[in-house]
Amino acid sequence: MSIDEYKPGLEGVPATLSSISYVDGQKGVLEYRGIPIEQLAQNSNFLETAYLLIWGTLPSTEELTSFEQEIYQHRRLKYRIRDMMKCFPESGHPMDALQSCAAALGLFYARRALDDPAYIHRAVVRLLAKIPTMVAAFQLMRKGNDPVQPRDDLNYAANFLYMLNEKQPDPLAARIFDVCLILHAEHTINASTFSAMVTASTLTDPYAVIASAVGTLAGPLHGGANEEVLDMLENIGTVDRVANYVDECIATKSRIMGFGHRVYKVKDPRATILQGLVEQLFDEFGSDLYYGIALELERVVSDRLGHKGIYPNVDFYSGLVYRKLGIPTDLFTPVFAIARVAGWLAHWKEQLAANRIFRPTQIYTGNHGQSYVKLDDRSTPLPPGLLALGQEL
Ligand code: CMC
Repeated sequence: MSIDEYKPGLEGVPATLSSISYVDGQKGVLEYRGIPIEQLAQNSNFLETAYLLIWGTLPSTEELTSFEQEIYQHRRLKYRIRDMMKCFPESGHPMDALQSCAAALGLFYARRALDDPAYIHRAVVRLLAKIPTMVAAFQLMRKGNDPVQPRDDLNYAANFLYMLNEKQPDPLAARIFDVCLILHAEHTINASTFSAMVTASTLTDPYAVIASAVGTLAGPLHGGANEEVLDMLENIGTVDRVANYVDECIATKSRIMGFGHRVYKVKDPRATILQGLVEQLFDEFGSDLYYGIALELERVVSDRLGHKGIYPNVDFYSGLVYRKLGIPTDLFTPVFAIARVAGWLAHWKEQLAANRIFRPTQIYTGNHGQSYVKLDDRSTPLPPGLLALGQEL
């Protein structure tokens, strides 16, 4: 195998056949099961979209009602999961808490029957139902409060905001949050979805699949970017400092968070929809000082880096929406995960239907023909700064 065949980051390497979602990065198109994201954002709700992604078609009224009822019935957490969460350090990142809780579900629902459609259905329902409860419960517990029980009269999005903020959300806020969940539900073979698929391909349980995807989503180059965008806007502080900030990032080759995408070379269509939601929220509940900075940042980055196809991605405006909805910054990525569980589960199900374990290859760049040297005979110099055993400080 020649080194020319190596594609760092697997760029452009097809890793699966999939009919779940489609992206045209040149035209800024995103479709779920062939339906443009704009139409879903306008007309659908998260659970209907999740059903579409996972089962491949929009549900009938009966199918949707039954799916919603099942989810609502499974939202509560076992007290042992809550007890386990009480032992987590308050200073721990909520993504780490979520990853641990998702993995722990495998202990409680240990039976594995991947060829049984009823088992797949139950796992889908459990994960979609319990992940939001876990995120909200960790938030309340780290503040020293008891978690709030889910409310069966509230839909998926409204119930999460209720469990998080301990009060019933404004209907507009709940609807906007619902749209955010739709926008984040799926996005072809990104890093976390690929991670889910690799884990799924070993035929392990679905809780391990979701736990590995949560761990992958957490990184700042992926889902963690939304959190970093807010930190960046806060650091920039005022509109007049934006141009300097961008120039400095370019000069030092630093990443500007919330910009750039492996696939999109134009503005991410989800960023356009999110920007509209930000404006709707600000019209209703008052503006945010960071919005002016964000707009100027988009203008300057497009001007300086547009020729490289660097434009806002989904993470750029989502943080501003979440901030206005009262969601703490370090919960932005867990909220992304709540939505993305739908996409991960859709890919899990698709993977199982035509499974072959992922086992790519490598191009070896090391040595051959080396001999083992006994410890006493090794004279490797210590790296600078390290003291030899017994040497005094
Ligand atoms: N700021 C400044 N320059 C950038 C950025 C950025 N955000 N993104 C890419 N570039 C430049 C990069 O320096 C490189 O320039 P050159 O060719 O001169 O060396 C060129 O664009 C291509 O970059 P790359 O690293 O090869 O691109 P990639 O496809 O490997 O990385 C990315 C994609 C999303 C990791 C990257 O754009 C990035 O780090 N963005 C900032 C983090 C971020 O917002 N992540 C969220 C991604 S979208 C949602 C999600 O996946 O969760």
